[in-house]
Amino acid sequence: MDLNELRSLYLHRQSCREFADKKLPEDLLTEICRTALLAPSATNAQPWRLIALTGEKKEEVLPALQRLGMNAFASRAAALVVVAEGKNGGFMKVGALLKENEFVLHDLGLLTAHLVLAAEAAGVGSCILGWRDEARLRALLGLGDKTRVPVVVALGYPAEGYPVREKKRKPTEETFSLLTHRSDKA
Ligand SMILES: Cc1cc2nc3c(=O)[nH]c(=O)nc-3n(C[C@H](O)[C@H](O)[C@H](O)COP(=O)(O)O)c2cc1C
Repeated sequence: MDLNELRSLYLHRQSCREFADKKLPEDLLTEICRTALLAPSATNAQPWRLIALTGEKKEEVLPALQRLGMNAFASRAAALVVVAEGKNGGFMKVGALLKENEFVLHDLGLLTAHLVLAAEAAGVGSCILGWRDEARLRALLGLGDKTRVPVVVALGYPAEGYPVREKKRKPTEETFSLLTHRSDKA
């Protein structure tokens, strides 16, 4: 895959909020998750866990994602993938002390990016859901009190005719700098 093809994938990936009434084969769902788990992480600690939910398990979790009428479309997703903190083996805590940084949420964000792009490459639509009741999610999934669950990703085939929207992004002059000379300003 060259950069142009990758860019096309990025342009085509969008938050899908209208899903077709079509099942997602379990082996494909598993393969998308396994591919995403190739994401990089600080000190390769892989401080994560993906929990894929379909059928009744998916239904059970939906209320934790739909407070105040938000994310109603998620009811039609074929699957939900919970992006949760996993075991860190103590690595991350030491790293945090040494580097004055705590990378777990950063790593979970990278994993999420890999997940939605892997889904897109497989022709599967996705929407990252950050609007959630984290405590309720933890309780429903039987996760420990301190386990962070920053997002859940809704997956499914986009509804027929669902348009690919033009990307709305800040002008790159605002978000990108290329510095080559000592006197350049960031
Ligand atoms: C951390 C995070 C949380 C998000 N939470 C929600 C959400 O709860 N519901 C929703 O419909 N979209 C959610 N989104 C999707 C963003 O609104 C979307 O990515 C952004 O508007 C850019 O649009 P695009 O994904 O179609 O390119 C979330 C995205 C991120 C990265």
